[in-house]
Amino acid sequence: MTPAKPDRNLALELVRVTEAAALAAAHWMGRGDKIGADGAAVDAMRLMLNSVSIDGIVVIGEGEKDAAPMLFNGEHVGTGEPPQVDIAVDPIDGTRLLSRGEANAIAVISVAERGTMLDPGPCFYMEKVATGPEGADVIDIEKPIEDNIKAVAKAKGLDVDEVTVAMLDRPRHDDFVERARGIGARVRLFSDGDIATAIAAARGFLGIDLLYGIGGTPEGVTSACALTCIGGAIQGRLWPRNDEECRKAIDMGYDIAKPISTRDLCSSDDIFFAATGITDGFLLEGVRYGKDRITTQSLIMRSRSGTIRTVVAEHDAGKLREIAREEPWRRH
Ligand code: FBP
Repeated sequence: MTPAKPDRNLALELVRVTEAAALAAAHWMGRGDKIGADGAAVDAMRLMLNSVSIDGIVVIGEGEKDAAPMLFNGEHVGTGEPPQVDIAVDPIDGTRLLSRGEANAIAVISVAERGTMLDPGPCFYMEKVATGPEGADVIDIEKPIEDNIKAVAKAKGLDVDEVTVAMLDRPRHDDFVERARGIGARVRLFSDGDIATAIAAARGFLGIDLLYGIGGTPEGVTSACALTCIGGAIQGRLWPRNDEECRKAIDMGYDIAKPISTRDLCSSDDIFFAATGITDGFLLEGVRYGKDRITTQSLIMRSRSGTIRTVVAEHDAGKLREIAREEPWRRH
């Protein structure tokens, strides 16, 4: 196979977008105000995104136009020049973590060719199983959790009691937790942020071997983008919360029972991904304030080249403080 000619790596530009969101959001850490934090991150992300030379449509955004005035699904962003792309944003994955001053809040964006990202329609949640390259071919959402754990253990050359399964700490997962423990696997419960956790499963951070359970569909699309860059896999199935959501999805042509693969979530072979730490976490360091410099740490990836970069940026504290002068949290 002839290697692709080097060309523009959008992820190198997108990192400015997630850095801006993280810098804006970090001021809101521990203030107990999820809405304020989200608004600040969205504003910053949108402003920076509109400076990037792309013709972008937000496929995964902050919800419907009326509910969220900024970065809504279907919004056009960028300068309008080619390439035409789909965009998935999560200005803060872990808004609750951030508002409580807890670890692992990140700002995330992924970009891929137009028409390649799944539009989850009315389905806010999906079942997910995600893992790294070794287990990518053996996971199967249609099989019981026990089979998935055993298959990943075998693929990684581990005993089942050496496998760690990460799950969102939610009552809806009680049965999964019990069954995973029942076959001897180790369970790591986490309170929020399943994009970072899917990446952790793919990279083996914290010893996590797979992510399992029901989480956000938007986060599923973004995790698929990240895992395609890393070489891992995610599989899922839409999980309507009630009959009404189910009916709506079916009326819109979604097949609720059908398994969704990594490629169904994003079918592009040229995906760009960037994430910046807001609070310190296992994936990234959070925003650090110094008198003269404010430091951010980001992860940027491209699927076509397979390059994974960690970018540490030092921002001029004076200039950023000037911009932040009017923020509401300063008025006290
Ligand atoms: P937000 O910070 O964007 O609200 O998402 C946090 C999160 O933990 C996601 O990572 C996860 O997919 C989703 O919430 C789970 O939803 P819920 O908290 O409703 O169980």
